[in-house]
Amino acid sequence: MDQAETAGLAEAGALAGRFEEESSRVADRAAWEDLRLRWVGRKQGIVRTLLARTGEVPAADRRAWGQAVNTLKERVEGRLAELDAVLTEREREAVKRSAAVDVTLPGRRPLVGSLHPITRVNREMERIFAELGYSVAEGPEVETDYHNFEALNFPQDHPARDTQDTLFLKSGFLLRTHTSPVQIRTMLARKPPIRVICPGRVFRNDNDLRHSPMFHQVEGLAVAEGLTVGHLKGTLLAFLRRLFAPDVEIRLRPSFFPFTEPSAEVDVTCQSCKGQGCAVCSGTGWMEILGCGMVDPRVLDECGIDPDRYSGYAFGMGVDRVAMNRYGIANIRLLFDNDERLLRQVHG
Ligand code: PHE
Repeated sequence: MDQAETAGLAEAGALAGRFEEESSRVADRAAWEDLRLRWVGRKQGIVRTLLARTGEVPAADRRAWGQAVNTLKERVEGRLAELDAVLTEREREAVKRSAAVDVTLPGRRPLVGSLHPITRVNREMERIFAELGYSVAEGPEVETDYHNFEALNFPQDHPARDTQDTLFLKSGFLLRTHTSPVQIRTMLARKPPIRVICPGRVFRNDNDLRHSPMFHQVEGLAVAEGLTVGHLKGTLLAFLRRLFAPDVEIRLRPSFFPFTEPSAEVDVTCQSCKGQGCAVCSGTGWMEILGCGMVDPRVLDECGIDPDRYSGYAFGMGVDRVAMNRYGIANIRLLFDNDERLLRQVHG
């Protein structure tokens, strides 16, 4: 503000009027800050400048000048304080509003977990067998040669061992190749009658689209007086009809396992084509589902159970295939990739 202007505005009335007019236009904090700097800023503020010029005012007018400037100063400071209070209150309101809950916004959905297909099929199998009077037995995944092979009547150097693609550990233990060692552990620990199923992970040196080096089996074992192939077949039919559909058929094909005699492979009506024949069942209308047989007397004997008094049947099935079939999963790897999208897809 040049001298002429300052002199021109020196009348308190004119300056006060200008201040009133400027202050009435203050709408926000930035404008308030501009106003403050302009009027009472330490360097260029109008009031400052006026005070600095007191020395230039003729001595006779100085008193009146000083009073007028002071009155203006008080008015400016008072008004700035008022406006500050209004703005502060408005700012507080704004903060409150932004922190408040907006009940019109859509809610956030929590991520709901879901059970893995393997867990579901396992639980379903356990439930069905519980209804048939079976309890659950478990055994270690790291096994001895004795429990995984020897006691199951796989003699040393017997070619049947080659079918198992065993993963051996340096310690002399091995990763169990099937759940059948739990049969041995159960029979060594308990006396008949025995009715157990043994779900668990098993391991084989095998890896392609349909095989994973780790997969899941459920073993079944019943030992009592007078058990026959008829009991075995009836149990499997009851189980598979509950698992798949009340009208499925099964067929038993002769097979070989060192620990059962006779042994059979069991097929169930293909669930993809209901027996018509399709790509899934290679046109046969059947799906291979499990291996089974009457417990070999030598195995009973090895476990301290009198084979002349007791007989038993056993069966073992893959869980992964059933889960893949049920949930339409083409590649076994998808079961073990831990991709959440798979879980979401099979959920419900
Ligand atoms: N343990 C056999 C396998 O893994 C399956 C089986 C279990 C067969 C019980 C007969 C009786 O191939």
